[in-house]
Amino acid sequence: MGFHSLFLCTILIPFISFGTSTHESQNFTSRSNDLKALNGFSSCLESTILDWNSSTSPDYCTWSGVTCDALPHVGTRVVRLELGSTRLSGKICESLAGLDQLRVLNLSYNFFTASLPENLFHLQNLEVMDFSNNHFEGPVSTAICSSFNRLRVFKLSNNFFSGEIPENLGNCSSLQHLSINGNDLSRSLPESIFQLQNLNELYLQNNKLSGTLSEEVGKLSNLVEFDISNNDFFGFLPNIFGGLTRLKVFNVGSNRFTATLEDLSHCRNLSMLGLSKNFHNEEMPQGQNLEFSNLKVFALGNSQIKGSIPNWLSGCKMLQMLDLSWNHLTGSIPSWIGKFNNLYYLDLSNNSFTGNIPQSFGNLKGLHVMDLKHNSLSGPIPWELSGMTMLEILDLSHNKLSGEIPQSLIELSFLSSFDVSHNELHGEIPTKGQFDTFPTTSFEGNKGLYRHSTSGFMPSPPDETRAQPHHQKLEIIGFPFWFGALAGFLITIAICFASDGHHPTKCHQAN
Ligand SMILES: *[C@@H]1O[C@H](CO)[C@@H](O)[C@H](O)[C@H]1NC(C)=O
Ligand SMILES: *[C@@H]1O[C@H](CO)[C@@H](O)[C@H](O)[C@H]1NC(C)=O
Ligand SMILES: *[C@@H]1O[C@H](CO)[C@@H](O)[C@H](O)[C@H]1NC(C)=O
Ligand SMILES: *[C@@H]1O[C@H](CO)[C@@H](O)[C@H](O)[C@H]1NC(C)=O
Ligand SMILES: *[C@@H]1O[C@H](CO)[C@@H](O)[C@H](O)[C@H]1NC(C)=O
Ligand SMILES: *[C@@H]1O[C@H](CO)[C@@H](O)[C@H](O)[C@H]1NC(C)=O
Repeated sequence: MGFHSLFLCTILIPFISFGTSTHESQNFTSRSNDLKALNGFSSCLESTILDWNSSTSPDYCTWSGVTCDALPHVGTRVVRLELGSTRLSGKICESLAGLDQLRVLNLSYNFFTASLPENLFHLQNLEVMDFSNNHFEGPVSTAICSSFNRLRVFKLSNNFFSGEIPENLGNCSSLQHLSINGNDLSRSLPESIFQLQNLNELYLQNNKLSGTLSEEVGKLSNLVEFDISNNDFFGFLPNIFGGLTRLKVFNVGSNRFTATLEDLSHCRNLSMLGLSKNFHNEEMPQGQNLEFSNLKVFALGNSQIKGSIPNWLSGCKMLQMLDLSWNHLTGSIPSWIGKFNNLYYLDLSNNSFTGNIPQSFGNLKGLHVMDLKHNSLSGPIPWELSGMTMLEILDLSHNKLSGEIPQSLIELSFLSSFDVSHNELHGEIPTKGQFDTFPTTSFEGNKGLYRHSTSGFMPSPPDETRAQPHHQKLEIIGFPFWFGALAGFLITIAICFASDGHHPTKCHQAN
C-alpha cells in the first residue's frame, strides 16, 4: 500500500465508522427488527436463499431481492422485498410483518403454501403486493384492506384461495390493479368493490363467483381491463357501458348472461370483447352505431346467437381473432373479412352459413387457423386460398363444397392439418407439399375424390379404413388452443409455459 492510500485510509476510516456507528446506534432497534424479520422469513422457507447469510454478507441490504432506502425520520430500512420466480417453497411466517417500512412485496411465481399470516395486512406502507402464482390456500382475510391506504397493485391470482371476496376490499381506496383470478372463490361480488374509483384493471376470471352483475360496475370510470370470464354469473348484463369509455378489455365469457349488446356502442376503444358461452337465442347485434376500430379479439362462440354476421364488424380492421363458432348464424360469409390484414384465427364453424368461401380470403396472409366446418357452404374451394401463406390448420369439413381440391394448395408449406371430409368434392387429391402427410380421413365422405398412384388411378379407401377417429385431431383447435391464442397477445402466454409450469390447469389466462 503506497503512502498516499495509507494516508487516505487513516483519515477516512474513523470518519466512515463514525458516520455509520451514529446512524446504527440511533436506529439500531428498527434496523435489527428488519434483520430479525428477514431471518424469521427465511427460517420458514424449505429452501435457502444462497446469499442471505449474516456471516458472509453482514449487510442485509445487499441480499438478493432486498432493497433498502434512507427514509426521512426513519433511517435506512428495507423498502422492497422482491423474490419472484426464485423457486422458494415453505410458508410465510408472521415475522415478515416486522418489515414495517415495506413498499413492495413480490413473492410471485414460487411454491409457497398455507395461508397468508393476518398481520401482513397491517403493513400500512405497502403499495404493491404480489402473491400470484403460488399454492396459497384458505380464505382471503376479512381485514384485508383495514390498513392499506396506499396499496395500488394487489395480486393474488393463480392460487387456491377459497371462500368469498371480503367486503373490506372496498377500503383499499388507492387500488389500481386487482387480480384474484384463478382461485376457488365463490359467492357474489361485494358491492364495496365498485367504490374503488382508481381501479384500472380488475381480473376475477376463473373462479366460482356467482350472482348477478351490479350496475354499479358502471361507476368504475377508470376501468380499462375487466375480466370476469369463467365464473357462474347470470342474469341480464346491465347497461354499464355508458360510464366505461376507457374500456379496452371486456371479457365476460363462460357465464350465464343475457344482454342486448347494443349498449356496447359507448366503448369505442375496445380491443378485446369476450362474450362466448353466454346467452340463449339472442340476435347478433346489428346496430349502426357500433364501431370498434381497435378491436383485436371478438369472441362470441357457443352462445346460440341468431342472425347474420353484422356489417359493423367490417369496421374492425385490426381484428386478429374472430370466433363466432357454435351459434345459429345464417347468411353468407362476407368477403370483407378478407381485408382483415392482421387476422390469425378465424372460427366460423358449426353455424348455418350458406354461400361460397370468399376468394378474398386469399389475402389473409397472417391467418394461422381457418375453421369453417359444419356449415352449409357450397361452391368450389377457391384456388386463391394458397395466398394464406402462414396457414397451419384448414378445416372445411361437413359442408357442401364441390369441384376439385385446387392444386395451388400444395404451396401452403405450414399446413399441418387439413380436412375437407364430408363434402361433394371430386377429382384427384393433390400430391406433393404437405398433402402427402394428410390422413385418408381428411378426404373421406367425398364420393368423387381419389388418390393418384403409380399403378394407375385408385379410388380412395372406403370409410372403414380410417386410421383414427375423426375428431381426435381437431382437439388442437378446441378450447385449450383457443384460450392459449387469446391469452397469447392479451397478456403473455410465455409466462405460463416458460417460467414455471406448476399451474398447468390455471394457466389459460395468466396475467
Ligand atoms: C453462511 O456462510 C458460512 C460460510 O460460508 C457457512 O458456514 C454457514 O453455514 C452459512 N450459513 C447459512 C445459514 O447458510
Ligand atoms: C431513526 O429512527 C427513528 C424512528 O425509528 C427516527 O425517529 C429517527 O429520526 C431515525 N434517525 C435517523 C438518523 O434516521
Ligand atoms: C413480481 O415479480 C415478477 C418476476 O418474478 C414480475 O414478473 C412481476 O411483474 C412482479 N410483480 C409486480 C406487481 O411488479
Ligand atoms: C372501511 O373504512 C371505513 C372508515 O375508514 C369504516 O367505517 C368501514 O367500516 C370500513 N369498511 C369495512 C368493510 O371494513
Ligand atoms: C383510446 O386508446 C388510445 C390509444 O391507446 C388512447 O390514446 C385514448 O386516450 C383512449 N381513449 C379513451 C377514451 O380512453
Ligand atoms: C354445434 O353446436 C351445438 C350447440 O349450438 C353443439 O351442441 C354441438 O355439439 C356442436 N356440434 C359440433 C359438431 O361442433
